[in-house]
Amino acid sequence: METTDEYRLSHTAVGKGASYQESFEKYPYRRLMWTWEKKQIKEIITYRFKKEKDILDFACGTGRILLELANISENVTGIDVSESMLDIARKRVPNTEIINADITHINPFEEKKQFQIIVSFRFFLNAQPTLRKEVLSALTPMLEDDGVLIFNNHGNSSHLGLFLQITVMKVKKILRPKKKYFVPKKLSRKQIDELLECEGLKIVETYHRNVWPIMSEKREKDVSKFETLENWFSKRKFFERLSRNVIYVCKKKS
Ligand SMILES: C[S@@+](CC[C@H](N)C(=O)[O-])C[C@H]1O[C@@H](n2cnc3c(N)ncnc32)[C@H](O)[C@@H]1O
Repeated sequence: METTDEYRLSHTAVGKGASYQESFEKYPYRRLMWTWEKKQIKEIITYRFKKEKDILDFACGTGRILLELANISENVTGIDVSESMLDIARKRVPNTEIINADITHINPFEEKKQFQIIVSFRFFLNAQPTLRKEVLSALTPMLEDDGVLIFNNHGNSSHLGLFLQITVMKVKKILRPKKKYFVPKKLSRKQIDELLECEGLKIVETYHRNVWPIMSEKREKDVSKFETLENWFSKRKFFERLSRNVIYVCKKKS
């Protein structure tokens, strides 16, 4: 049965931070996505905000994205519920404010504190629907009226690789029904629009990556040979629906 605490606790075990960080060094696909995400975040933020930038990285984990944000601005805050993840973040981004808290339970900032930019990566796909809603309800009042919320969905439901992965899993299940299989998570644009709608937010820009049907993020084969192709796909809006990883830039509806 799904409980609201399920995803909150998912990264709290001792050693989880280290193994999470390692996975971005070990798996070529994850490494490539990380490179693309950092480049994209920098472009989105520096294009929109020329001067002071007050940024919150929600569910900052090991500081993977926080590291890049700290290069862009001096006013960056990271927040996460897992000490195991934050332990790595504190070493990685030492001069940045990092808070251990669950914003759906407590607001650790001064009342009425708002950020120009709120970022959240690899969170919304993974979190269960109730947690997604609770988080968005807590984050929206923390966003300035003309601020932006930037988040990604690294399991876009119409990605061909995901479709293949699920089909292969179903076939395996028929052949060996007793074995446990990992069911990949997926999130559709429609689900995202509905989630944002509830909080009076709308998508104003999107960026996409990974059309080539890679079945698993954790495959060890080098996937950089597809980069020229991926650059081409990334520049064409049509391919967004077929991409695995999509970044959304959202604003409050006026
Ligand atoms: C997959 S990690 C993503 C970390 C980082 N944003 C990145 O892209 O590498 C998801 C993070 O969400 C955090 N998390 C889950 N529920 C949370 C909550 N309610 N409040 C704060 N952090 C939460 C987990 O502890 C975990 O570190």
